[in-house]
Amino acid sequence: MSIEVHRFTSLAELSRAAADEVAALITQAIAKRGRAFVALSGGSTPKTMFAELTARKLDWSKVSFFWSDERAVPPDHEDSNFRMAKETLLEKVSQAKAERMHGEDPDLGRAAAEYEAIIAREVPGHVFDLILLGLGPDGHTASLFPGTTALEEDKRLVVANEVPQKKSTRLTFTFPLINAARAVFFLAAGEDKAPALAQILRGEPGVEPAQRVQAARVEWFVDQAAAAVPSSRAGSR
Ligand code: 6PG
Repeated sequence: MSIEVHRFTSLAELSRAAADEVAALITQAIAKRGRAFVALSGGSTPKTMFAELTARKLDWSKVSFFWSDERAVPPDHEDSNFRMAKETLLEKVSQAKAERMHGEDPDLGRAAAEYEAIIAREVPGHVFDLILLGLGPDGHTASLFPGTTALEEDKRLVVANEVPQKKSTRLTFTFPLINAARAVFFLAAGEDKAPALAQILRGEPGVEPAQRVQAARVEWFVDQAAAAVPSSRAGSR
């Protein structure tokens, strides 16, 4: 596993650089295998990068978007990760295919199983070319929160995970699926991420969820606020 850390002065600069890397990865995946499979992250950090991505000239008809997690809300809800990506990205690259998680399903176990079946059908070997992830101040990523049962899942690819910290259940990729990816890009910005990020990059225990992401290629795109706490692993930019 290779880990690379890219530090930027601002979220805007981080987003431009990450969009360039995502575009290059998609182009290479299409050239090599005819199609690119990308899982989008939720939350707010990726919004600017998604908007930047729409300006890249790519063969979007050969891109399939998925989501690495989703809240238990309908697709038009303000908290929906699908809605955020639709508004910032998908509406502008309508030729791309998008398979959203059905967070509105009253039976989230069923929704998780259905999504897993779609991945098994659509994504060769369930190996994503890229999985985008964020970082919570507690070290959570996707909807893999500290102390939740999904952290122990070692077979299923997608589960419904009860998250007491959010007083809700969420749909999420599991580590088996995330760690099978060819590449994982984390985007982290803001000083509230700094302590967790420093611990992760120092390899210190205690920030478990994000630290357990061990895909073949892991790249961090962080702003100076998130990188403020010194860590031993030198950045590359
Ligand atoms: C979600 C995300 C979650 C997010 C982090 C960071 O559904 O909220 O998948 O893992 O990436 O909580 O969120 P921000 O980018 O909003 O700080």
